[in-house]
Amino acid sequence: MDGKYVIASDHGGLELKEAISNFLKEMGIDLVDLGTLNDDSVDYPDYGVRAARAVSLGEADKGILICGTGIGMSIVANKFPGIRAALVTDEFTAQMSKEHNNANILVMGGRVLTAEQACKMVKVWLETKFEGGRHQRRLDKIAGLEDDIRSGSV
Ligand code: RB5
Repeated sequence: MDGKYVIASDHGGLELKEAISNFLKEMGIDLVDLGTLNDDSVDYPDYGVRAARAVSLGEADKGILICGTGIGMSIVANKFPGIRAALVTDEFTAQMSKEHNNANILVMGGRVLTAEQACKMVKVWLETKFEGGRHQRRLDKIAGLEDDIRSGSV
């Protein structure tokens, strides 16, 4: 749970972002809120980019993104090199996203989950360890795919 965390949302995820931010601060997590900061309608890519860029560049270790469904934010975040953004729907998928996928960005839907559900899922994700082994092999293939796409060989 050590490390620097970033969080961002659009208006559809604002309420959940506030609840999760308070929860993480109570847990003593080093967290930077990258917006949005009020309920004016905004475009989720503008805020997804802020958190995904920070994690992709190593300015933060992990991130949390929230929009109405979580779908838009996960599409945006997964455009960035090295980002493994997982849209999770319950505690089981939150656990698996770390154990098997070593997700470095957790994505949730503010219009899908209650604050209580979301905080439980965040806690599970924070506390779960990546299993490595065969799962590392699969992540290495994803990293290799990023290189292949960049070089045009796939
Ligand atoms: C905004 O209304 C909504 O489209 C957005 O929050 C998100 O659900 C997109 O995937």
